[in-house]
Amino acid sequence: MISIGIILPAAGSGIRFGGQLPKQYVLLGGKPIILYAVETSLSIDGVQSVVIPVSPTDTTLQTLLKHYSIDDDRINVVTGGNTRRDSVANALMNSSIAEVDVILVHDAVRPLASKKLFEQIIDAAYREGAAIPCVEESDTAKIVRNDFVVDTINRSEIRRAQTPQGFRRDVLVSAYNNAIRHSLAGTDDASLVEASGQRVRCIPGEPANIKITTNTDLTFAASLLSK
Ligand code: C5P
Repeated sequence: MISIGIILPAAGSGIRFGGQLPKQYVLLGGKPIILYAVETSLSIDGVQSVVIPVSPTDTTLQTLLKHYSIDDDRINVVTGGNTRRDSVANALMNSSIAEVDVILVHDAVRPLASKKLFEQIIDAAYREGAAIPCVEESDTAKIVRNDFVVDTINRSEIRRAQTPQGFRRDVLVSAYNNAIRHSLAGTDDASLVEASGQRVRCIPGEPANIKITTNTDLTFAASLLSK
């Protein structure tokens, strides 16, 4: 069986969301958003560790895990960094994932990714080295500078990248070493892996697998969940 480590970056401040509570702790269907990702991660065969980077002053996650009786030795809460890249880099140093075959990185604020999607990404990542869920774009995408359009992108070539993103461990570690050496930032892990020269396989993502960033996203996720 493929051995797996899952990183759930959760050290963001959630500033765009407004309010006091980081967005991963806001309730969705009566449960904090992050716990959906934690529970799905723990339910996957072969998962040896779920590493969760949180901000240095954050004690909320530990409290919630206790409150919701999620008591599993495979959960490792670690300190995150100032950027998502640094949070994942810190998680990658955790000894609990030093020996796994495949590492998945999944945003703590994507509660509705299915177990099936996790499994498909694991299989594709193991086979190809790197795999991500992608969905087609229905809007036309523009490049805009100073409020004026400078270009229109061929929509048929555009995909929106979701998480979980999966990588063979050696592929992800060398991509992060390369990114840190060359001061590359990225808004997802695949972009750092691409920059290291590794091909990234796209597999169909899920329309319901939205990233909760705004209150509108939260309302939308609640309506998807109730269906
Ligand atoms: O900011 P963004 O929406 O891209 O955040 C995606 C995920 O990365 C969130 O789950 C957030 O908590 C996490 N993150 C992190 N460390 C940071 C910034 C964001 O773990 N410094």
